Amino acid sequence: MGKTFIADHALISHKIAVLRDERTGTRDFRLIAGEIAMLLAYEVFREMPTVSVKIKTPVAETEERVLSGRKPVIVPILRAGLGMMNGVLEIIPSAKVGHIGLKRDEVTHEPCEYYCNLPEHMDERVAVITDPMLATGGSAVQAVDLLKNLGCRDIRFMCIIAAPEGLEKLRNAHPDIDIYIGSLDKRLNEDAYIVPGLGDAGDRIFGTK
Ligand code: PRP
Ligand code: URA
Repeated sequence: MGKTFIADHALISHKIAVLRDERTGTRDFRLIAGEIAMLLAYEVFREMPTVSVKIKTPVAETEERVLSGRKPVIVPILRAGLGMMNGVLEIIPSAKVGHIGLKRDEVTHEPCEYYCNLPEHMDERVAVITDPMLATGGSAVQAVDLLKNLGCRDIRFMCIIAAPEGLEKLRNAHPDIDIYIGSLDKRLNEDAYIVPGLGDAGDRIFGTK
């Protein structure tokens, strides 16, 4: 069973409060979404393949563990997942980036794929999906399905806000993946929006609507 991590951190909670506030404008929303992603990414990358290397400091020889293997790949789900990408890259700047475009149908709430561009050797990389909102879970499940079809074995999903319904759906569909959440909210409303949530993440990040 993969791990489910729900943040319990004063900085993350404070920053999520700013995102939730309907008065927060595009500039601050974008900045703070990136900061939350960076703080969550610290946890997402806690465990990584490493190898021991010898280092000579100015004082003595020592051994240290460093990252090994293929570079990890960050996979933002377009559009809103892009709002977390730069924050993650702040702490792991050498990561590759792949994109999956999914748009939720406003009536059925089912995701529809419109774009996919991923680096080679996906089966050898740690893949980290970013999407600020895990609502019904349809988009997340589809993104993980796609990565698994390419042979990915170490998949980590990170979001800022999750609904219990979405977490349950993703966990049931993919028990093996690791899931990182900034806040687990109360429920979905009749339009499949997260309550209390923060509204439409894509619109707030990109200033549309
Ligand atoms: C939002 C959000 C997720 C999805 C979550 O994207 O960024 O991708 O909805 O909903 P789900 O868990 O019910 O699938 P949306 O489809 O609105 O597209 P956008 O990022 O382009 O705004
Ligand atoms: N997508 C969003 O951007 N917000 C929600 O609350 C649900 C889906």
